[in-house]
Amino acid sequence: MSSTVTETLTKPLEALSLPVEEQQPRYTKVPGGYEVEFKGAKWFTGTIPNEAYTPPKDFVFPGNSSPVELNPKGQTEIPQKLTADYTGYKYSNYLAHVTLTEEAPLVPYDHVDCAFRADPEKKALFAAIKEMKDMTPSIGTEVKGVQLSSLSSQQKDELALWAAERGVLVFRDQDFVDQTPEFLKEYGSHFGRLHVHSFGSHMKGHPEILSNLRDNDKTVFDHYGAGYLTTTRWHSDMTYEKNPMGTTFLCALEVPECGGDTLYLNNMDAYDKLSEPMKFFLEGLSAVHSGAQQSIHGKKSSVYRRDLVETLHPIVRKHPVTGRKALWFPPEYVAGIVGLKKEESDAITAMLFSHLEKSLDFHTRVKWEKGTVVVYDNRMVLHSVVLDYALGPNAKRHHIRITPQAERPIPARESS
Ligand SMILES: [Fe+2]
Repeated sequence: MSSTVTETLTKPLEALSLPVEEQQPRYTKVPGGYEVEFKGAKWFTGTIPNEAYTPPKDFVFPGNSSPVELNPKGQTEIPQKLTADYTGYKYSNYLAHVTLTEEAPLVPYDHVDCAFRADPEKKALFAAIKEMKDMTPSIGTEVKGVQLSSLSSQQKDELALWAAERGVLVFRDQDFVDQTPEFLKEYGSHFGRLHVHSFGSHMKGHPEILSNLRDNDKTVFDHYGAGYLTTTRWHSDMTYEKNPMGTTFLCALEVPECGGDTLYLNNMDAYDKLSEPMKFFLEGLSAVHSGAQQSIHGKKSSVYRRDLVETLHPIVRKHPVTGRKALWFPPEYVAGIVGLKKEESDAITAMLFSHLEKSLDFHTRVKWEKGTVVVYDNRMVLHSVVLDYALGPNAKRHHIRITPQAERPIPARESS
């Protein structure tokens, strides 16, 4: 690495006498999106802001009831309103923002999974691990004594394969959480094109890093829960996209003393449990995955970077590398089954949701600590946060997420 690049990574930007254009990310068009170059790091993004966009005057960020002074140029980042005391908060640069902008839909891209290159026995990765323990027979492994940041390219390939096999890998790795955003984005790009959420809520200056914070102010999470008996919302992340998500990294910065766990379930075992006639029936079908549910709740108080997306995906998808079939039918985003009459679609949908939600045989639960990093394969698991902790000044739950996209879902049977 050149000394200039090293300086830009380690010194505050103001302290450097760089030309103005070098202080801004540089976007270069590449197939499927843009390559971003900033401060010596490179990563991919699917979107680029429209500089001419003028944001609406009545903009309100989720959880923020204060009027917002808009940047007349239209390009501005609005912080989430915070009512807890963040004086001296270690991760104050990681608090959620939205960018007022208007962007084109994500361009589909051809994803080649890095797990294709992995040694099936994962010898290089396992040699670096001191301790591992399965959380349940079906899903999840807890891993200790490895630094994710120091993994080689080969070990990262094996990590992707392992996440696909176990669904969920839980690391206690404060070192990874404390890496720079540039490092995290470069790291995540190994696994796929980094997703930018359609309504933002990202770390300032880094739209590829999602910031999820719930403290003693109402947030978008609470909008979701309003009017329901439960806060449980089973989903895989943003399945309505044309290239849904793959090997995903969710990192805990702050956790409540008790509660705020994340539930995971194994889509592969959910499929395997079905009868042979039901498997055959479902393998021929597709479902509508819609961002409308998220959009309706978000639009109560938010502005979207991109328009609502609805996409048809096979109900049973196949992992490109392991070949395992998965019942990929997330209750939060599935809006119906294509080709069935309404009553048929409703009955099958209700049966499948019930099967997914009540079969604890293939569920697990992650208890977060500060510095926990969960690596999960969004193709092979569903998940939900549990918002069971009381709101209060000391009840922060703050995570960041790096979310690489993956291939367009591969139907388990070619005719679907
Ligand atoms: Fe999620």
